[in-house]
Amino acid sequence: MEERDIPQVIDIDNEAFPTQWPRPTYSAYKNELKNRLARYIILAKPNDPSDGSGQQNSTVSSKRSWLSRLFHPKPRPTCTLPPSSIEFVIGVAGVWIMVDEAHITTIGLRNNFRRQGFGELLLIATIGLAQQLNANVVTLEVRVSNNTAQTLYKKYGFQEVGRRLHYYSDNGEHALIMTTASIKSPQFTSHFQQLQNEHRQKWQNLY
Ligand SMILES: CC(C)(COP(=O)(O)OP(=O)(O)OC[C@H]1O[C@@H](n2cnc3c(N)ncnc32)[C@H](O)[C@@H]1OP(=O)(O)O)[C@@H](O)C(=O)NCCC(=O)NCCS
Repeated sequence: MEERDIPQVIDIDNEAFPTQWPRPTYSAYKNELKNRLARYIILAKPNDPSDGSGQQNSTVSSKRSWLSRLFHPKPRPTCTLPPSSIEFVIGVAGVWIMVDEAHITTIGLRNNFRRQGFGELLLIATIGLAQQLNANVVTLEVRVSNNTAQTLYKKYGFQEVGRRLHYYSDNGEHALIMTTASIKSPQFTSHFQQLQNEHRQKWQNLY
């Protein structure tokens, strides 16, 4: 994520977290981009005028890689994307690296792009980034009512280890605290690799 992506990331926050308070601001994100503990990843769709799809189309018509600006364990040698200014940002994930813990601060998509493998792709990239930054575990908070996100996290080995009562100021909802086992362990690494392979097979058009 770069500063020019902030307006679109705020749009995504407004869609994905409509009741969140305080609302995200440009200056808050600008500060986060300077925060040496924080890393933000965006998932951007190349806005190819020749495909006639426009920005709102939720189908993937471009064959170019969605991962070109996204962290990937095996970086691609070439980047064919047009300048960032004409990319359409569809998802964002943020992580804070604190000692040996990578804490996911946000992960969200535009509504039109759900259920197409993108949330999982962002989570894969975030865990991969945590591994690259030598974190030992990945943690997060999630609303007790957010079954969709919990299902995704459980798939990747996150387990509930506690609760923060009345954590969310909009409605006083509790948060589940979820964490992985050591992401350096052979068990986690092998399960993570298997899930990545399955994701790649299922969603070949994203790679
Ligand atoms: C959570 C979120 C990122 C998931 O992204 P997504 O692109 O829709 O999910 P994917 O298509 O990648 O699905 C990946 C996995 O998530 C889970 N999942 C996704 N949608 C689900 C649903 N409606 N019900 C249950 N599980 C669901 C499944 O485990 C799925 O794996 P499967 O395809 O093998 O069943 C997305 O729904 C979102 O942005 N939600 C709003 C913001 C939010 O709640 N963020 C989490 C804050 S902690």
